[in-house]
Amino acid sequence: MTVENRWYKQAVIYELNVRGFYDANQDGAGDLAGVTAKLDYLQSLGVDLVWLLPIMKSPLRDGGYDVSDMLNVNPNFGTLEDFNILVNETHRRGMKIMVELIPNHTSDQHPWFQASRDPEHPEHEKYKDYYLWSETDQKFKDARIIFIDYEKSNWTYEPSRGEYYWHRFFYHQPDLNYDNPEVQKEMMRTVQYWIDLGVDAIRVDAPPYLFEREDSVSENLPESHAYYKRLRSFVEAYSPEIMLLAEANQWPEETRAYFGNGDEFHMNFHFPLMPRLFMALAKADRTPIDEILARTPEIPKSCQWGIFLRNHDELTLEMVTEEERQFMWNFYAPEPEMRLNLGIRRRLAPLLDNDQRKIRLMHSILLSFLGSPVLYYGDEIGMGDNVKLRDRDGVRTPMQWDDSINAGFSEVESQKLRIPVIEDETYGYQKVNVKAELEDPTSLLNWLKIMITIRKQHSVFGEGTLSLCSPKNKSIIAYLRENELEKILVIANFSSENQQISLKELCVKNVDFLDVINLYQPLVLEDQLLNLEGHGFRWLKVV
Ligand code: NOJ
Repeated sequence: MTVENRWYKQAVIYELNVRGFYDANQDGAGDLAGVTAKLDYLQSLGVDLVWLLPIMKSPLRDGGYDVSDMLNVNPNFGTLEDFNILVNETHRRGMKIMVELIPNHTSDQHPWFQASRDPEHPEHEKYKDYYLWSETDQKFKDARIIFIDYEKSNWTYEPSRGEYYWHRFFYHQPDLNYDNPEVQKEMMRTVQYWIDLGVDAIRVDAPPYLFEREDSVSENLPESHAYYKRLRSFVEAYSPEIMLLAEANQWPEETRAYFGNGDEFHMNFHFPLMPRLFMALAKADRTPIDEILARTPEIPKSCQWGIFLRNHDELTLEMVTEEERQFMWNFYAPEPEMRLNLGIRRRLAPLLDNDQRKIRLMHSILLSFLGSPVLYYGDEIGMGDNVKLRDRDGVRTPMQWDDSINAGFSEVESQKLRIPVIEDETYGYQKVNVKAELEDPTSLLNWLKIMITIRKQHSVFGEGTLSLCSPKNKSIIAYLRENELEKILVIANFSSENQQISLKELCVKNVDFLDVINLYQPLVLEDQLLNLEGHGFRWLKVV
């Protein structure tokens, strides 16, 4: 792939929950037409790639990750025609669109499963091996259970067939059987179908679990990688500008394999980095970030990390040690209801005590660190969460557009909303909403717009190398981003106290700097000593 095609390396990605974004047809849930109606907002924020959480037909028992028809949009969200309009309108504004592919499993409502489970079904013969069936629930014992708060086993008994079926997630999400070549073909066809509908990128859900094998943990198996390489070859031949993003929630060493030799996924999330950003902030000590970066291998030139602060799931603590997990839970999720599975079901602003300095510090790292930044809808205005809601719904509440009824999200009676709006004193829509923030020049939203604009003026953030400079003071993180065009030194203070740093200690010596965020003013220092206020940060261009 040529350098010009590597658009995803420069992309600012915005993840949104269609069901919670904007209700255009006024039925109480967001829809595709609602996203179309808000594209100007996304464009003005500086978004390059709009990531839609699952939109395929689904009973929505797992936010749409339980698909019942891969070749249709969920009627609750609209029609294929609505999707077509959304794609065209997104492109017309110079943005791109990413959808979800969920290859590992389907809903138990999928016609394939209905036929597979029931020997009396007219199509049973054709579909009987589409899923993994077993007479016992004792196979693949070494595979962990992921949704530990909900499931006791990865096997569930199906009386009509008299056998157990395998599922890595909810019991109502049976895993597809990739040893069946027909299943492999179905997924290729699905990818082709969505490419034909005009999408620019595909997030591949839960890629580590495609195949299972005895005497292994059934994650990251060579068979799975071989399949993804074939998928990539197909995409490369069919539509080479498409980007494939893997959601492999693994340690960096395992994640590396998903990039292959630049012949598997273009992007992969850096899951282990995320909790360590929060740890560094909590401890006012950058060490967790240093450690995970030391474990992060080089990736092929055409590849990219996707980095994020929060997303639609719980803040996962799978890629941390037991001790770190306990620390994170104690610090960020003191109430039991804030915890879910191995994670924390809270949004960014509440996690950071709604402290604007901390929220901006974390965004300044997100926008300048190694990879393409992914923003989660609502975090740009500092939305809150609702831990009383079931599962992960508390971080998927309606977008707060203004202070009118239902936060301007929908005009239906409030009781008819599928997920209620946030109404508490601190984060309620009466106070936290897009309209109010647009009108306030000092708001988080307006600040973020400026920061995104600045990031986009410097290709070094998307494509440059990152070298950690290691000042003695551990509360300071400093890193140099560098490409053939420029060098930018980023310095950030994880502590709430003022810190003085000698720039002589950092990776670049005896140079002058322009303060990128502060209108490119020359940095005037006495004896190279920089004062950084509590939770402060600088982006300094080397001149
Ligand atoms: C990962 C998704 O992010 C999550 O929301 C979903 O529940 C699981 N995969 C299962 O599809």
